[in-house]
Amino acid sequence: MPTPITRIGVLTGGGDCPGLNAVIRAVVKDAASHGIQTIGIEDGFLGLIENRVRPLTPADVSGILLQGGTILGSSNKANPRKFACGLLPDGTPKIEDRTDACMDVIRSHGLQALVVIGGDGTMSCADTFVKRGVRCIGVPKTIDNDIYGTDLTFGFSTAVQIATDAIDRVRTTAASHHRVMVVEVMGRNAGWIALHAGIASGSDIILIPEIPFSVDHVCEHIRKRASEGKKYSIVCAAEGAKMAGGSAFVERVVATSPDPIRLGGIGKALSGMIEEKIGVESRYVVLGHVQRGGTPVALDRVLATQFGDHAMELLKFGSGEAKDMDAERGSRLVVWKDAKLGDIALTEASNKQRLVPLDQPLLAAARSVGTSFAEG
Ligand code: F6P
Repeated sequence: MPTPITRIGVLTGGGDCPGLNAVIRAVVKDAASHGIQTIGIEDGFLGLIENRVRPLTPADVSGILLQGGTILGSSNKANPRKFACGLLPDGTPKIEDRTDACMDVIRSHGLQALVVIGGDGTMSCADTFVKRGVRCIGVPKTIDNDIYGTDLTFGFSTAVQIATDAIDRVRTTAASHHRVMVVEVMGRNAGWIALHAGIASGSDIILIPEIPFSVDHVCEHIRKRASEGKKYSIVCAAEGAKMAGGSAFVERVVATSPDPIRLGGIGKALSGMIEEKIGVESRYVVLGHVQRGGTPVALDRVLATQFGDHAMELLKFGSGEAKDMDAERGSRLVVWKDAKLGDIALTEASNKQRLVPLDQPLLAAARSVGTSFAEG
């Protein structure tokens, strides 16, 4: 007879995104209605490392459904197995394994399971605790929509809407001044945001990491449009897009982060190259963290609530494979697959990324309306 769950921990790890609070709310409310106490862990795994936790009651999560960010705080630099705690004399980070300290915190607060809301990095961290016998239920968040095993992550739809609205606004200036506007959107090494926002905004050229581009082909498309009387062009460029034979533009390296590369710079570089090659006045806009901010769109609120509810269903009753309370088999990642909720083994998703496949139907849809990917 499995021990009933009476006390769980919840944390949000990695970069923030709209909908995190909606998941926390769903988990806490559902848990409370079944007599389960939720302990909020602050700043992702950093809160476990530093023993910073607080109880969460339904009153604490009342009204947070539409709030952006996370009431618990987050960190994308706190991998307990490889925790960067200061610098060595040569300036490189001093790395220590803090798994044991985290296990002490989990035991001392009587946490029987963790709900881990995060991206691939957070799921890899959770794996460490699964291997130490802690049952973890993962909830996939990220604006990038690149988590393996799920067709959709919450936060993505909001980011796409923000990027689309921004491109719509930039179009006015492009048209009035007969310019090229390059809009750089986020997404890491995946082109999902650029593809969706590019199509939604009717961008003329979409550049994604999965399809290396040629600057000559970008310029050719702009010229072709000009020859048809279209005096301006919009380029929606994913931050991870790269020229054929080249590598992605890197904005900075965060040495203490498990995923140290921060992409950025394609907007500036490309608009400069367009001006130089064909003499058309070009400007760039980097949307950056604006895409992660503010209130989630309705779809993200709904998805986040469903994800939180499914996470609790798995903990309370289990479903399919998850019926087993053993940590390895009972640790699942909640997913949205083939238009319905489901769950897969947590281990299946860690250290993998879901990129845009080259046969993704959206690519054909974009091409059918004359959009160019400027393939190199
Ligand atoms: O993963 C979400 C994301 O916003 C990416 O799109 C972007 O590359 C990265 O995080 C930026 O990270 P940071 O907030 O550390 O600058």
